[in-house]
Amino acid sequence: MAIYRHAPMKADNVHFIYDPLPGQKGGFSIACAEFSVSPEQVCFIIGKNGSGKSTLIKLLGGFSVPGKGKITLNEKPLKNAHIRCLLVGVTDMLVGRLTVLDHFALGLALGGLSTGLFPRLSAAGHLRKRLGAIKGLPEDLRKEVLDLSILACSELSSGQRQLVAAVLAILVTADAIVADETAANLDAENARRLLKLLKMVAQQDKIPIVAVSHDLLLVAEFADCAYIMENGVASRLDLPTEFEKRVSFLRGKMGFD
Ligand SMILES: Nc1ncnc2c1ncn2[C@@H]1O[C@H](COP(=O)(O)OP(=O)(O)O)[C@@H](O)[C@H]1O
Ligand SMILES: [Mg+2]
Repeated sequence: MAIYRHAPMKADNVHFIYDPLPGQKGGFSIACAEFSVSPEQVCFIIGKNGSGKSTLIKLLGGFSVPGKGKITLNEKPLKNAHIRCLLVGVTDMLVGRLTVLDHFALGLALGGLSTGLFPRLSAAGHLRKRLGAIKGLPEDLRKEVLDLSILACSELSSGQRQLVAAVLAILVTADAIVADETAANLDAENARRLLKLLKMVAQQDKIPIVAVSHDLLLVAEFADCAYIMENGVASRLDLPTEFEKRVSFLRGKMGFD
């Protein structure tokens, strides 16, 4: 799908409203007047629980369709774009007896990528190639992912499962990646490894990446740009360049003392 390659992701005047939940008069709605992420950039969305971050991520990933406005990649509608969505809690759905690599092979097949007669072998081949092709990927992470990806999910800790599944998902070639709290539940070191990987993939594949995070230190370290969701309204943040100033700016925006 060459028309989407190396393209900015944009949202213009996007509105979305859920059907009301039981007991509610109106459904929760979100509004995003302007949203723009250039290729090679990692853009963060911060905001309180229930502010609408996951709803916006699903719209940007093409899971939901806005009631009004448009979301585009390279000025084209998302329809056939290959957007990799790392949604919150997906690793809870992994099947214990299968390896993460099996899930990866299944995902590739379902996504229309041919895995041939030997899905495990071709998924492993694709993965090895990508793991080898990402410049600057630390050797220990490469080895850990390869070693863990062939164990049954039930033999991994939930953190290991999340790390391996996220790394594999990030490595599947895409036109853009949207990630919802992908580093949540990981220890501080693994969360940084994952964010570093996202940054490398954004730069080397020249794709835009949007990530939701509650970890303001990670946001301050890795953000090229950021938005805040407040009661369903997305606004762009004018991030200071210096790390310490960024942290206190982000804390202030979140209403921390
Ligand atoms: N499928 C749904 N139907 C109706 N309301 C929903 C649905 N999913 C989420 N919501 C509501 O939308 C609001 C925002 O949710 P969400 O986008 O998940 O917030 P966040 O990710 O910032 O915590 C919440 O009040 C939630 O109840
Ligand atoms: Mg959420």
